[in-house]
Amino acid sequence: MNKEEWLKKGFVNEKIDSTLDLKSAINKLKEEKNAVILAHYYQKGEIQDIADYVGDSLALAQWAAKTTADIIVLCGVHFMGETAKILSPDKKVLIPDLNAGCSLADSCLADEFSQFVKDHPGYKVISYVNTTAAVKAVTDVVVTSTNAKQIVESFPKDEKIIFGPDRNLGNYINSVTNRSMLLWDGACHVHEQFSVEKIIELKAQHPDAIVLAHPECKSVVLKLADVVGSTAALLKYAVNSSDKCFIVATESGILHEMQKKCPQKTFIPAPPNDSTCACNECSFMRLNSLEKLYNCLKYEFPEIDVDKDIAEKAVVSIKRMLDLSEKLGL
Ligand code: 13P
Ligand code: SF4
Repeated sequence: MNKEEWLKKGFVNEKIDSTLDLKSAINKLKEEKNAVILAHYYQKGEIQDIADYVGDSLALAQWAAKTTADIIVLCGVHFMGETAKILSPDKKVLIPDLNAGCSLADSCLADEFSQFVKDHPGYKVISYVNTTAAVKAVTDVVVTSTNAKQIVESFPKDEKIIFGPDRNLGNYINSVTNRSMLLWDGACHVHEQFSVEKIIELKAQHPDAIVLAHPECKSVVLKLADVVGSTAALLKYAVNSSDKCFIVATESGILHEMQKKCPQKTFIPAPPNDSTCACNECSFMRLNSLEKLYNCLKYEFPEIDVDKDIAEKAVVSIKRMLDLSEKLGL
């Protein structure tokens, strides 16, 4: 065991005995250590199946804030681990692979965003949860795709607002709230990839299919969508709908839960532009595996750490989101 080597790699790369029943071993470790496993809908199916809770970004933050476990294993990406640590600073927060970043969070560097905020005095700052803790520290209120519309609408109509970092989500929220928030020019490499032409082709092949799209998609894709919403909202729609076939324009991990909850329905992943593959996966989300999850629980490594001063500021904007969400019944 060499912690320095693991740290360089970003995960524990210790070989696991191939005869080990990984799922039972993970469950055993979880009980022994009073740990909870939280997983995002974009995780591999095997991780979603072993998690205690599977949810969208808002649900993950809500569970992280109220868990009584001693250890939180966040099977998602780095900013989700940071949010959990900021909300539960006394708990140990682990992530199976520290390399699980986010292209959207990376498109908004804290120094540049802070300067942008300074250049616009008098503006309120609303940031998507897909940001680093340092960006959240210069933010008035954090939002997720589940609560962005309602939280923006909780501000007076004439309030001057900076919205970052996702330009697609920002444009979508501007259009549904009839506002003109000032947008940061960031985007997610997965959601920007969906092909309009291929979705139109799929619609022609499946004329009864309903198109579900995440608001991180470009507006040309959202125009084709019958339903626009967060991963949790799209899942809820698919479960409650009497329709039987859906074209899904978000990371294809969500299809696992959709298919599980609706075994009789058909879910077709919307294809990306430059690929022969029929689905669209987030390479960061998919870095986590059962093996890394096992090693991370066993060695309690890698751990998420957030600078104390940054955490003290960021917690204010995150808690504001949780309080508003509770009031809004979200
Ligand atoms: P939600 O979980 O809020 O739908 O966000 C999707 C996403 O891109 C997470 O990284
Ligand atoms: Fe970030 Fe996009 Fe991956 Fe979500 S899907 S974690 S926004 S890169």
